[in-house]
Formats: sequence, structure tokens, C-alpha cells
Amino acid sequence: MCASISGFSKLSKSKKIDWIVETYFSNAEDAKRILKQYWNTNDKLQQLHDEFIENTITNYYLPLGVAPNFLINGKLYTIPMAIEESSVVAAASKAAKFWMDRGGFKTEVISTTKIGQVHFMFQGDFETLQRFFNDIKSKLIQEASHITKNMQKRGGGILDIELRNKTQDIQGYYQLHASFETLDAMGANFINSCLEQFAKTFKNEALNFEGFSAEEKNIQIVMSILSNYVPDCLVRAEVSCKIEDLYEDDSILPEEFALKFIQAVKIAEVEPYRAVTHNKGIMNGIDAVVLATGNDFRAIEACVHAYASRNGTYSSLSHAKIEDGIFTFWIEIPLALGTVGGLTGLHPLVKLSLELLHHPSAKELMQIVAVAGLAQNFAALKSLTTTGIQQGHMKMHLMNILNQFNATDAEKSTLTNHFKTNTVTHSAVAEAIEKLRM
Ligand code: MEV
Repeated sequence: MCASISGFSKLSKSKKIDWIVETYFSNAEDAKRILKQYWNTNDKLQQLHDEFIENTITNYYLPLGVAPNFLINGKLYTIPMAIEESSVVAAASKAAKFWMDRGGFKTEVISTTKIGQVHFMFQGDFETLQRFFNDIKSKLIQEASHITKNMQKRGGGILDIELRNKTQDIQGYYQLHASFETLDAMGANFINSCLEQFAKTFKNEALNFEGFSAEEKNIQIVMSILSNYVPDCLVRAEVSCKIEDLYEDDSILPEEFALKFIQAVKIAEVEPYRAVTHNKGIMNGIDAVVLATGNDFRAIEACVHAYASRNGTYSSLSHAKIEDGIFTFWIEIPLALGTVGGLTGLHPLVKLSLELLHHPSAKELMQIVAVAGLAQNFAALKSLTTTGIQQGHMKMHLMNILNQFNATDAEKSTLTNHFKTNTVTHSAVAEAIEKLRM
């Protein structure tokens, strides 16, 4: 049945649930039981989660796993990862161990600039607008000082504001394009508050600017909002070793592995169909850490994919080369992350994840997240160019299949053993469990 309701948000949680289960579920009692099963028994903790968003009816769990042995710039980390995909944490751990034995990951933050824009319409002469902007630029910054004071004390704040003429794209369209340094905060609220103040000052000052005609004075602010595209908030992560040190076992020669690996990366550099999947593998690692540390994975995703298309074609985020017998694999990626503000001080598991990472600064977190992406990509390409992806993937997926068959602990133990030496497919597991139960 489809139904609409007014005033839903004003109902109590239990009334909301009653309406949902009675309106949409054939077995209302069962639906209610499932929703309640996921509540926390600690009322205060549950209330905290209820209040993150509106209309909370229950919690949606994801596993929080950890991948140890990440050696980054000589320091060891155990990285927290919140993700549902079976093979991701295992792959990250394997790649971490592989590179720990070969010198670890080297990382560097290249830049940390964030961007925000006031989009506005102006009907008049650009040169006069430019003169007006030059006249009031310092006032724009000064009138935002009540917002920037604390950030400035810590070494951040507004870096610059530019006037941009966008009339070639849309008649009458201009921007105040501002750059910011937000230190350990992701900075969305800070940037948006600054932008809204710029817009207010800009509009008011225009009314008093003598160089404008009556029509020019009437600047129309369309919107003021940060940009999640931060190509100048960049971090680089890299691994490298002598080709012969890539040796793991006799299944493939290190030279052959290095060449195949590089071919796989080159394919992702030129072929968008492959690049999307290649980058998806990178985001398996990145999103999991971003989520575990309470950051906004939608913002990160949107930015990263725009960055992957910056040259006009969607392409690989990672690159590889062999030079003078040295294999190097690296990623350069924009990541606007925060380790203060937002959920970081609220969600108990986010706080725990940040403590696990030794309370990193935003810059340090950028490096850890980039490493998680590179490691994930290395693990995927290593499997793809050697054994194929399904062997490892299905091994990790085995538990999900067993759970689909409601396997008991004893059955799980027997079948996990069995599939150590047999290929995991859905039908092979079905057959094995049937045999076992007979
Ligand atoms: C699966 O989640 C990710 C991979 O498809 C990535 C890749 O193909 O590189 C394995």
C-alpha cells in the first residue's frame, strides 16, 4: 500500500515506527522486531544516534574491521575500515604486509587548499565590477573576521578571494571564488559561513558603490557554497622496490609480474570502462577509512571522480613505472578530510578509530587514507594479473554463502577447512553443505 502522511517528523519515534510497519509491511510485528533488534540497549547512546539525523527508526550496522601492519613513512599503523564487502579488509592487510617487508609506504601532502564560491548575477560592465571588487575585497575579509578569528589564531583562514567572469558560460554570471586553509577541520561550516558573509557584504556594498548604475547596484546572489572539488588539497602515496624484491613465490617471475602490473595500470589510464572499476577498487579502501573516521564519503567520492576526469577523459587515479630496475606504484589524490568537528567528536566508534590512528592531524589522515586506497588497488591488481580476482574474493565470500544457508558453527568450521583446497562457488558450497547435512 502507498500512503502519504503530514507531520511525520513531529511524531514520536515509536509512533513513526508504528506508522511505517503498519503501512508498508505484511508482518508488522516482525518488521518492528527487526527494527528494535538493532537499537542500542544503552538509551543515551541510542539517543545520540537518533539525533544524528531526522526520522531515525533504527541503526544500520556495517562491520568495523582493522588492517594492521601499515608502515607509512616509517611509522606503523593499524587502519580502521568500515565496509560490508567481504574481501576488502583482507586485501588491505595482505598489501600492507607485502609492502611492510619492502620498506613500506612513502607519503607526502602536496597542498591543503579548500574552495568555496559565491555565485551571482550582475548586469553591467565587467571592468566596473572588477573596480568595485578591488575596492571592497579587504572589507569582504574584514567583515568575516568574527567567523575567521579562531581559525586564524590557529594558522588558517581565508587565503584569497578572486572575482571570476563566467559570462562566456551564462550571460551575467560571475563568481567570488575563495580559497581557504581549514587545518584539522574539514571546514564545510566554516567555509559556508564565510561565503554567506561575503555575499552579504558584497550585496550591501554594491548598493553604495557610486561607480554602479541603478541596475548594476542590484547584484543578485544566486548561492554561496563550498566546492567539494579540491584539486589543490592533494596527497601523494607511493611504494617502490627493486623488481627482484617483488618476488613472493615461484608462481610468477617478478619481472613478469611487474610488467603485467604496469600494463594493467596503463589500461586503466586509457580505457574509461576499466578506469571506473580500477578506481572503484581504490575507493574500496578510501571510503572504508573515510567512513570509519567520521568523514563525508560522498564529498570524497564526488571530488575524486571529478579529479579522475580532469584531463577530459575519465582515467586511473594510480600510476606505475619501472625505471632503472625499480618498480614504483603511486597515487595522487585530492582528499578534504577533518579530524576535528563534525562526527569526529561525537560518534564513539569514530573517536575510537581516531585514537587507533594515534589521533592524526587532517594532513596525517590524508596520507593514511591515500595509502589505504593505494594498498587496495595494489591488492586488486596483484590478484587480477596473477590468480584472477575470484579465488581470493570467493574465499572471503564463503562465510556469506554459508550464512545464507544458515550454517551452524560446526558446519562452518568443516566447510572452511574443505574450501581451503577447493574452489569456492555458490553451487559448490550448496552441494558441500547438502552432502554434509545428509
Ligand atoms: C571489487 O570491489 C574491486 C575490483 O573490481 C577492483 C579492480 O578491478 O581493480 C576488484
